[in-house]
Amino acid sequence: MTKPTYYVTTPIYYVNDRPHIGHTYTTTIADALARYHRSLGEEVMFSTGVDENSQKNVQAMEKAGKTDLTAYLDEMSSVWKQTWEDLGMTSTRFIRTTEPKHALAVERFWKAVKASGDIYEGSYDGLYCVGCEAFKSEGDIVNNRCVLHPNKDLEQIKEKNYFFRASAYRDELLKLIDDQPGFVQPESRRNEIRNYIKDHFEDFSISREAKNLQVGIPVPGDDSQRIYVWFDALINYLTVVGYGTDDVDFKKWWPANLHLVGKDIIKFHCALWPAMILSAAKNDPSLKDEQGNVLLPQQVFAHGFFTINGQKISKSLGNAIDPRDLVPKYGFDAIRYYLLRDIPFGEDGDFSIQRLEERYVHDLANTLGNLLNRAVVMSRKYFDGKIPTPSADDDAHVFAGQDGVARLFRAVDDHIRRNRFDFALENLWNGIDGQYGLIQANKFIEDTQPFKLVKTDPQSVATILYSLLEYCRVMAWLIQPVMPDVAQRMILQLGQHPEIESQKSLPELVQWSQLQPGGELPEPRILFPQLS
Ligand code: MSP
Repeated sequence: MTKPTYYVTTPIYYVNDRPHIGHTYTTTIADALARYHRSLGEEVMFSTGVDENSQKNVQAMEKAGKTDLTAYLDEMSSVWKQTWEDLGMTSTRFIRTTEPKHALAVERFWKAVKASGDIYEGSYDGLYCVGCEAFKSEGDIVNNRCVLHPNKDLEQIKEKNYFFRASAYRDELLKLIDDQPGFVQPESRRNEIRNYIKDHFEDFSISREAKNLQVGIPVPGDDSQRIYVWFDALINYLTVVGYGTDDVDFKKWWPANLHLVGKDIIKFHCALWPAMILSAAKNDPSLKDEQGNVLLPQQVFAHGFFTINGQKISKSLGNAIDPRDLVPKYGFDAIRYYLLRDIPFGEDGDFSIQRLEERYVHDLANTLGNLLNRAVVMSRKYFDGKIPTPSADDDAHVFAGQDGVARLFRAVDDHIRRNRFDFALENLWNGIDGQYGLIQANKFIEDTQPFKLVKTDPQSVATILYSLLEYCRVMAWLIQPVMPDVAQRMILQLGQHPEIESQKSLPELVQWSQLQPGGELPEPRILFPQLS
């Protein structure tokens, strides 16, 4: 039987700087989604990579006093790739837009759009922001600077360009947004995009004169022009799954289930990108299904932006946190938990070490770590180092049980399918209707007092502790997409083999009563060491 597929993408990042905590946020969400869908038994494609054909990168190289562009791009691309590897991201493909296969995909796509009659010659006279890699209209300019990049001068550009007839797709795009509410999420962004398409979506300049640039893919048939970096970059989502190079792979993976982006680049993804595909599909059958429907990405989700202690993350302020610097102290799982739990998904948030530490102490060490530790320590102490045998008919001493964890799983699944890790984690900690959460599990120990009850009623204590161990096992699998390393250590502490267990799918793993009574419980280790 073929497995269902799930294809999630991050934006491809400019290599003008190193990854900071904001980029890490996007890649972490994609990673957690990829892990979740794998745990459901789906086959997952998770792509990320770097956007190299940008003037921004050239300027950064010059600023660093370097002159060899290829060497600079190689060096910086490997910094990005390595950072994601060091942080344990499970991306399937890492694309560089300087790869020859990407140039092939872009050429093929350009030719299809051209054949549709949607590329024409014109001349552009306007202000260009290299920070955004985009022409700016009056509304985006304050004091002669782009509102998003107030530290950079705008460039006056007047040159011959090729234009993409984007305006011809306005009605189709509006229909797409109205007919498929899931296409742009969250809802507030959907209205923003609808208004943008209705009032401001014009034809796009999609090339630049080659003589002014050091990067970029040449326009097919016109070497004097290079393809505009966004037109090139968006096509990466097709290249990674074999567009123009591997038809079988392409058919298997396209369209993407989810393009995850920051709110800064939503217009490119929700207006320009689908318009490009609608145009190319007229002359490229691989972009249509058997019924002739154009294969558009299923969803673009725009998350909010991070500030650090209330300030914009910026090179000039020098406040860009390299996520790898935080790992030795907190462990990456705790950072992942904090990022996904603390910020309401889709909204802006503030990264602060103080909040991270509060979450670490309260949610992780005192609630999750403490529960597992108490359950294992008491079981070992009272039941000879082993998993106790529960009474079959003693529901009064069972925490959560099959019904409880089934409810938790349903809620978590529902939230994650809507990209709401914040809600999913909320439920796991605070429970549903005040029941079944980690907080209630700790309270259950206070209420039932197994450490006292053991003197008079060891059989009830066996049931209490078995249910807590079993609950911890299920929780480990439910938090696994967010905290994979912690989940693995929890499973080991319960005497289980994570590599064998993880062959099962999540719906199987959350079935109650899988721990074998009598199984050995290894010596417990602290899950979240005290912060020094
Ligand atoms: N190269 C383009 C994207 C092309 S995709 C076809 C680009 N690159 S970027 O390096 O500027 O990265 C942008 C993405 O990084 C944002 O969309 C967002 O996902 C992430 N973030 C960058 N700074 C961020 C914050 N301060 N907070 C949250 N996310 C941030 O745009």
